[in-house]
Amino acid sequence: MTRILSLNQNSILKAAAVLKGGGLVGMPTETVYGLAANAFDSKAVAKIFEAKGRPQFNPLIVHVNDIDAAREISELNEQALILAHKFWPGALTLILSRKHDSGLSDLVSAGLASVAVRIPAHKGARDLIKACDFPLAAPSANKSGSLSPTNPAHVAQSLGSSVDMILADGACAVGLESTIVDCTGAKPLILRSGGVGAKELSDILGREIAYDLGEDQGNIKSPGQLLKHYAPSIPVRLNAIDLEEGEALLSFGSAKFMGVKGGSNLPDNMVRHLSKDGDLYEAAANLFAMMRELDNSAYKGIAVMNIPEQGIGIAINDRLRRAGGG
Ligand code: TXA
Ligand code: MG
Repeated sequence: MTRILSLNQNSILKAAAVLKGGGLVGMPTETVYGLAANAFDSKAVAKIFEAKGRPQFNPLIVHVNDIDAAREISELNEQALILAHKFWPGALTLILSRKHDSGLSDLVSAGLASVAVRIPAHKGARDLIKACDFPLAAPSANKSGSLSPTNPAHVAQSLGSSVDMILADGACAVGLESTIVDCTGAKPLILRSGGVGAKELSDILGREIAYDLGEDQGNIKSPGQLLKHYAPSIPVRLNAIDLEEGEALLSFGSAKFMGVKGGSNLPDNMVRHLSKDGDLYEAAANLFAMMRELDNSAYKGIAVMNIPEQGIGIAINDRLRRAGGG
């Protein structure tokens, strides 16, 4: 059985000991739970890929405690520094040039010349990094291609005994993965929408930031861009205005299902409300947990009501489209 320990000073020291010994720790962050290993230790990093069943070409995010630690492994150019000073610690991952003497395992960045770096806002995550004398490579703590975990139970369900220990700190505040911005080119580009919105990024950069979300499936920079990625085991149907026989409902807004035909007759176990008040942040925080709860092979699929394409709703819709297979 995986050890699940509540986050406190004592359990942080235990988790650091597991990491120093080359083990894997389920780590809370404000976005989603991560599956952490010593980013300098190739054997430990290889265990992440094995536990997730992740293709080795899919690189990992390296989590550090402060900007100085980021500089030890990567080059922060002018644009990157502007973003780092504004949004770190927080739900933003920067793709940066990897330093030759970074000491990082090559597996972390899957042989690329760049590396993904983030300082998490979650204090427990930063305390854990501080308690180690190395950065932590951590993808989301789920099997490759399935939903990201937003509470400790999800981590245990998804990864079982392949994770040595889980630091439990309840549900994640943001509930969606970080926004990924590629800073290695002439202009920063959004590779994955997430916790930090495009408008906030554009405002601080002083110009409109462009997306490269992998519409060109032959030329993918980040495997999170694969059209089918955050996928439950049953079909997901978006912008539903009615329900088909046997479908579960993921609602947003009015409890009357905004007129979704048949919605009001569903048994409780076949309905989840992302946010009855139409609050997009609440919806983001609930999204993955509720998709999991409705991911039942007895159902024909999950019908999802329209989510407004604004603010963090853009990231929610991105995940829903990928869950639906593009
Ligand atoms: O919020 C998050 O970002 C969470 C928490 C744990 O920090 N982590 C997370 O990691 O979502 P993961 O591995 O599930 O997603 C990382 C994404 C992948 O799509 C990967 O392809 C991309 O980042 N990535 C990593 N390194 C990259 C690089 N050098 N260039 C382009 N994309 C990269
Ligand atoms: Mg992931």
